Amino acid sequence: MKGIILAGGQGTRLYPLTLITSKQLLPVYNKPMIYYPLATLMQAGIREVLIISSPRDLPNFQKLLGNGGHLGLSIEYAEQESPNGIAEALIIGEEFIGGDSVALILGDNIFYGENMGPLLTKLGKHQEGAVVFGYEVKDPHRYGVVEFDDEGRAKRILEKPEEPPSSYAVTGLYFYDSDAPRKAKQLTPSSRNELEITDLNSLYLQQRQLSVELLGRGFAWLDTGTHEALSSASQYVQMLQERQGIEIACLEEISWKKGWISDEAFAFLANAAPASSYGEYLRRQTEFVALLR
Ligand code: TTP
Repeated sequence: MKGIILAGGQGTRLYPLTLITSKQLLPVYNKPMIYYPLATLMQAGIREVLIISSPRDLPNFQKLLGNGGHLGLSIEYAEQESPNGIAEALIIGEEFIGGDSVALILGDNIFYGENMGPLLTKLGKHQEGAVVFGYEVKDPHRYGVVEFDDEGRAKRILEKPEEPPSSYAVTGLYFYDSDAPRKAKQLTPSSRNELEITDLNSLYLQQRQLSVELLGRGFAWLDTGTHEALSSASQYVQMLQERQGIEIACLEEISWKKGWISDEAFAFLANAAPASSYGEYLRRQTEFVALLR
């Protein structure tokens, strides 16, 4: 399975923070936002990743993550000329996907929860149809919303409905089979002139190929698109990290624990990291490397 992080968009709701940089490079507490969705893909076992962003911002993502080799990953990059919709990511990424299945994640979505790891590992092996997540929110009208039938099965997905049929929003993490680029090309732009991901999901649903997994109370799904949400996400990460002494979305650690980089390579990264709390955390982990030897 391949992974795509869509990290373009205009970030207008975060103005003036986004005047000269991409939303997905802004800090969520102590790391760039894109670390979190990348960590999510990595937890799903995905090692081949395409990052899509605007022509203005793409070079900065390249500077940040390079070809991913130091993380045991292969990272490629592609431009989205303008924000023509989330589903366009599957068309831009068609060649990269290369007939494989694909997980698409929005660069400003943060997922966290005890069972996230096993769930992602399971879905990382998913090959047929599509899987999306429903998450209960207070303000569903801002999202794609799931309508359920009497038996609790997803019946329709409505994009930003004025009167939401449920409080379950579709999150920004989608798993698709290899047919997704072909299906995305069948879509026509919506009234706001975007290729809507909700339309792609609806197509899968009509063909009885969509499953909606509900994420319960034990999961956190945070989006970071407004000043308030960005600040809350930072506080959430800070609070958990300080309480538990762990790092959320520590890419080097995930890669090492997955066995994608050697003990030596991990120790090298840790020792090369500057003296920030993140660097200190990496160095503390290397004590485990020593113990394992
Ligand atoms: P949005 O939050 O809908 O858009 P935005 O990030 O441009 O923000 P704003 O509404 O404040 O202007 O996008 C959700 C995510 O998807 C975000 O990570 C940006 C990304 N995105 C793209 O990269 N390309 C697109 O064409 C669209 C629609 C979104």
